[in-house]
Amino acid sequence: MLKMNHYLTKLLILLCLSAFVNLLVWFCAYAEISDDDMSAAAIMTRLKPEGIVDIEGTAKIIVLTENDSARPERGGSEIYQSTCVICHGSGVAGAPIFGNRQAWAPRKAKGMAVLLNHALHGYNYMPPRGSCTDCTDSEIQEAIRYMLLKAN
Ligand code: HEC
Repeated sequence: MLKMNHYLTKLLILLCLSAFVNLLVWFCAYAEISDDDMSAAAIMTRLKPEGIVDIEGTAKIIVLTENDSARPERGGSEIYQSTCVICHGSGVAGAPIFGNRQAWAPRKAKGMAVLLNHALHGYNYMPPRGSCTDCTDSEIQEAIRYMLLKAN
């Protein structure tokens, strides 16, 4: 009985020891994981301000887009004076000259649909949108209408 007890005590000590070692290994592993968690949290913290900046950027873009669409349409003469005049004012690269009835007559004969299509997408040396990147389709059309009217 005593011998058996002795054996049991040995077994118990061995079990305790292995449990302790297990606990130690587990603790170290856990400590490492929690360290990783910490750095992950640190990364998250470091990333967070960027996320906020991104959201603000998106919000700004949305605001800008809203402002842009809220901008009142500019008239044909305004668009002409701001962009089209660069070439159509003096006939750069063969552009039909402003107010020149002879130059504009064959253009007018093509009809607005064709002229608008050429003005929007480019036509030979005529650049797309007359290089007015922020012009709406209808603003381009108004500019064409204005040039046609002045060449009547
Ligand atoms: C960089 C010079 C340039 C600018 C800026 C420019 N144009 Fe032109 N445009 C041309 C040239 C060159 C032609 C003649 C193309 C041809 O017939 O080969 C032309 C032709 C046209 C035509 C006649 C197209 C056809 O089918 O006959 C229209 C309409 C026109 N431009 C509208 C505009 C409008 C509107 C603007 C301003 C928003 C503008 N252009 C700005 C160079 C320009």
